[in-house]
Parts: sequence; C-alpha cells; structure tokens
Amino acid sequence: MENFTAYNPVKLLFGQGVTGQMSNNLHSFGKRVLFLYGKGSIKNNGIYDEVIQELKLAGKEVYEFSGIKPNPSVTDARRAVRICSEKQIDLILAVGGGSVIDTAKAVAISAPEKLDPWEVFTRKVKPSKALPVIAVLTLAATGTEMNMFSVIQNEEINEKIGFGVPLMYPKQSYLDPAFTRTVSKEYTAFGIVDLIAHALENYFGSGEATLADRYVFSIVNEAIEIADPLLADPDNYDLRARMMWAATNALNGYTNYGRKSGDFAVHALGHSISALFDTPHGATLSIIYPAWLKFISAIVPERLVKLGEVVFNDASIDGCINGLTNLFRSLNSPVTLEEAQIVGKDREILKQLWINTKAAGYTYEISTVDYDRILSLI
Ligand code: NZQ
Ligand code: ZN
Repeated sequence: MENFTAYNPVKLLFGQGVTGQMSNNLHSFGKRVLFLYGKGSIKNNGIYDEVIQELKLAGKEVYEFSGIKPNPSVTDARRAVRICSEKQIDLILAVGGGSVIDTAKAVAISAPEKLDPWEVFTRKVKPSKALPVIAVLTLAATGTEMNMFSVIQNEEINEKIGFGVPLMYPKQSYLDPAFTRTVSKEYTAFGIVDLIAHALENYFGSGEATLADRYVFSIVNEAIEIADPLLADPDNYDLRARMMWAATNALNGYTNYGRKSGDFAVHALGHSISALFDTPHGATLSIIYPAWLKFISAIVPERLVKLGEVVFNDASIDGCINGLTNLFRSLNSPVTLEEAQIVGKDREILKQLWINTKAAGYTYEISTVDYDRILSLI
C-alpha cells in the first residue's frame, strides 16, 4: 500500500427532506448568493421553490444564473465570474447535476482573484482563494458533490478538461434521493455507467490497495443490483437512495486511498467525444470502456480476471469484458460510436483530437497506434 492523505471536508447531508436544514446551515456565510442552475428541470419538479424558500428563511440576497448546459461551457463560467464581481457575491449555491456543480466550482475558484477559469483549469494561473460552494444534488452520477474536481468544456478549441484543488470541495452538499426521481431513464442509465466507470478508473490505476479494490467491487455490485429494478421503477425512493450514495462513494477518495493513482484514460478519451459532439458524459464512457479493457488486458490480465470473477461471476478476461459490455447494453447506453451517431469522417476527427491533446490516463502510455486500435474497437 502507498502512503496517502485522507482528507474530505465536505459536510454532506443525505436523505429525504435534508434541504429543509439549509436555511439554518447558511448563517455563517455572507448575504449575497449566486444561485446557479441548469435549463429548468428544477422549476418543473419543484426543487427551485424549495430552495428559494430556504434562501428566504436564511435572509439571503439572491442573484440567479440559469441555463447551464450538460457538458458545461467555460463561457458560462466566465459570465458568472463577472457577476460575482459586479454583485460582490459571498456564496455560490449550485442546484443540479454535475454540470451545474462543476460550473459553480469553476466560478468559485476564479472569482475572488478575477481569474479566467480556463487559465485556472489549464494551470496557467494558480488560484489562492475560492468562494464557498453549497451543492444541492439533483442527479446521481459524478461524485462532484463530495470531491474537489470540476470538468469544463471550451467549445472554441473543442477541449474538455478536469481540474481539482482542495479549495474546490463544496462546503456543504445536500443529497435528497427524492430529488432524483424525475431524472430521465436515459440520464439515470448514464449515471449508473458513470459511477461504475469511476470505481473502475481507480481499480485500473497503479499500486496495490486491497481494501480500495474491495470498495470498488462493492460499489460496482451495488450498481448492478439496483440497475434493472431502478430503470423499471424510477420512482422508487430506496433504489434512488442506493444509487445516489453509490455514486458519491465511487469518487470521493475511498476507491483510491492506498494506490499511487487512478488511471482515468477512459474519461480523457471520452471527454474528447463530448468536446466534439456534445455527447452525454456517461455515454462516452460506455463507448470507450469495453475497448479500453481489451487494450489493457495484455498489460494487467490478472486485474480483469479478478474483476470478472468478483463482479461478473466469470474469472476470465472475456468474462470481464463481455460482462461489462452486456451491462452497458442492458442499460441502453451506447457501446459503439455508431450507436451515438458518430460515423464517417467524425471518427478520424476524434482520433486527431486524441493525438493533439495526448489524451491518456495517469498509468499507461497511449501511442498513435494504440489510438488506432481503440478506434477500431469502438
Ligand atoms: O439542465 P437541467 O434542466 O437541470 O437538466 C439536466 C440535464 O439536462 C437533467 N437533470 C438534472 N437533474 C434532474 C434532471 N432532470 C430531471 N430531474 C432532475 N432531478 O439532467 C441532464 C444532465 O445533467 P448534468 O448535470 O449534465 O449530468 P451529470 O450529473 O451526469 O453531470 C455530467 C457532467 O459532470 C462531469 C461530466 O464530464 C459532465 O460534464 N463530471 C464531473 C466529475 C467531477 N466533478 O468529479 C467527474 C465525472 O467523471 C464527470 O466528468
Ligand atoms: Zn465520470
């Protein structure tokens, strides 16, 4: 096992009605709040009204910023940074899925020193402060509610990148599984893919950490057990709760502690697909993961055999790869580019972006020949 620091300062409130505690918990923050949300789901399902009520009770002055899109844009983050200066914002409240919360983190880390979020994310400037972020999660998938990462897209140069520093941990996160009941079947499935991918990105990292491995197996088994029943019964509170907590745990540190690092090549390769074609994040992962497993099966065959044994009841490389592919298929998440309507010359454009951005993970090198191979498998 490697040396590590376990640190996670997020105060996380989980369960039905927890947002009702928000007004009491907001007193220690300043008065002026920037309330970020997406394209309107929270207005349709009543979450907006509940949150506004809490902000009123807490006596906050509220400025709204809405319209944040899936695969969030740095343009929105830049606009919100300007609003923070103009309105002297004290606190950022993000109500939504990963795209809204990630935008809030990008704004929070850039606003106090009036930095450009893209320069922060590309590490051209180093922020030393951040505004506090409060998150109300409405979609279980990314784990952003309990981690220090954010992923932002720059459509001018077709790049989507992640960034993380401890300053970006949310101060408080409110997780009411009932809020996720209105998430579409499609995005529920993408969320299951994403949480499984997070667990596996850590499993296929470097370094021996048996407890972290077992944590990964448990999370993936939990996701597999709830997937079919939840998609058949999306209103089921208990299944929504199990999914939500599994997603948080897949990327809050515990699937990684004791390793040198996770890998995250599947994410890097998938981010290029989103950057070019605006494909939902989870769909990019179900496309890449089976091909990626084939690629690394020559390097770490024993890891695939073990995963196949524990999760898919088949202690073989093929059992592992087929098990994961069939699982993603059963969720109706695409496992080829064609299934995501990416065909013809777009495949070549994708490969070129991988080459230009040197898309790869932290553990294994990927050469141009490897990109060809991966592309031929998807
Ligand atoms: O815009 P609205 O109207 O809110 O609709 C959203 C959006 O259309 C909708 N939605 C969210 N909650 C809902 C709901 N619809 C009905 N009922 C609800 N309760 O769902 C759609 C997708 O939302 P989005 O926030 O994009 O989804 P997700 O949570 O999957 O976030 C994906 C983003 O997070 C990044 C991804 O790359 C992607 O940009 N990730 C962030 C990570 C992190 N910060 O740690 C790690 C992940 O690997 C991932 O990269
Ligand atoms: Zn992800």
